[in-house]
Amino acid sequence: MPVKKLLFATNNAHKVAEIQSAVGDQIEVVSLREAGIDIELPEPFDTLNENASEKWGTIYRLTNENCFSEDTGLEVAALGGAPGVKSARYAGDDANATRNIEKLLSALEGKENRNARFRTVISLVWEGKEYFFEGICEGNILKQASGNQGFGYDPVFQPNGADRCFALMDSKEKNIYSHRRKAADKLVSFLKEQVETLNNSQFIK
Ligand code: IMP
Repeated sequence: MPVKKLLFATNNAHKVAEIQSAVGDQIEVVSLREAGIDIELPEPFDTLNENASEKWGTIYRLTNENCFSEDTGLEVAALGGAPGVKSARYAGDDANATRNIEKLLSALEGKENRNARFRTVISLVWEGKEYFFEGICEGNILKQASGNQGFGYDPVFQPNGADRCFALMDSKEKNIYSHRRKAADKLVSFLKEQVETLNNSQFIK
């Protein structure tokens, strides 16, 4: 596959590593940092799709290059789909992963249904048109946090079919189950189709 580089509109190094591991050597994923772009990416909306669009939009206005972004939420059945699109700020303005997890575990105290899913939406701007790719990972919320790999809610999320949480897996193993990988697979399939008809010069060199 002749694709060389594609800009990923994110400041999250974990996401860059996971997407790079998911797409293999077919695409070199370039982070904002690697591209020398230092900018906050707002997530002001109530849907993953709108936030993903906003993120690439911010970068596209600067670079005018094909690029992609993603937004992810943890949707917990017993909480009516919360924290969902608000996953990053679940515990409030001074939220961090530890506080978010604490709040989640107390919200689920005494509840039998601990089913949850991660949902990722990747949004790609390609030759001036927008495309969405979704990936879902079903699982459940454990009663205690463990592990220190990954990020966010990984210490309490166990995907269906696994015997431990994401934070006890390296990124390769997480990618067997991961929402982000499933969305990335769809992105790669799309790009494969496109490069059959498009010239390399339309990628960032
Ligand atoms: P974002 O808005 O897409 O950056 O993601 C929102 C929040 O969801 C993040 O701050 C993390 O807390 C959480 N999150 C996103 N993806 C993952 C994941 O793969 N594992 C664990 N938590 C995640």
